[in-house]
Amino acid sequence: SEQKLQLVRGRIRAFPDFPSPGVCFRDITPLLKDPAAFCAAIDLMEDHLRKTYSQIDVIAGLDSRGFLFGPTLAQRLGIGFVLIRKKGKLPGATESVSYSLEYGKAELEIQADAVDPKQKVVIIDDLIATGGSLWAACTLLKKLNAEILECLVLIELKTLEGAKKVTPFKLCSLLQYD
Ligand code: PRP
Ligand code: HPA
Repeated sequence: SEQKLQLVRGRIRAFPDFPSPGVCFRDITPLLKDPAAFCAAIDLMEDHLRKTYSQIDVIAGLDSRGFLFGPTLAQRLGIGFVLIRKKGKLPGATESVSYSLEYGKAELEIQADAVDPKQKVVIIDDLIATGGSLWAACTLLKKLNAEILECLVLIELKTLEGAKKVTPFKLCSLLQYD
């Protein structure tokens, strides 16, 4: 497991001052290109969820990079995957919430019938920075009366204190950076 974590850590690149001055962008594209490292990341997420929860009903992934990890994880666990998307992409009745992120502002939506009340949901994304996106995702799932088990990300940017923003919900991360 420590070995898998090293494999994953070795496939994350840092780009200073992208997309704007002062932001150090953590780039996961080397991870996605390396099947062993990509698999190790999914393995670690799956292991963590299996040992932490006896039941999970749904994985909810954030647009767009949560979609890189969520569906595979849901398939591994034998459960469904639901989309939390940027505004205007989902048809039918939706809930929406606006939020701020590390370098901008946006609005997220979920379909009103995406989850049933009381369903146990894990929310997945690649990375937490300010926590604005995951806070918005939690807010949407709360509106649908889902039970949020935790937010799970590959990367946590510690100095931005995103974990505080998603309180009272639990945040778990595979890798932490200052
Ligand atoms: C990035 C990242 C997270 C979010 C983290 O996505 O993938 O979803 O920002 O920032 P926060 O914790 O400050 O909210 P982005 O909104 O850039 O969209 P993308 O996944 O489509 O690139
Ligand atoms: N890296 C990748 N995605 C991000 C970041 C980052 O540092 N901050 C917000 N989204």
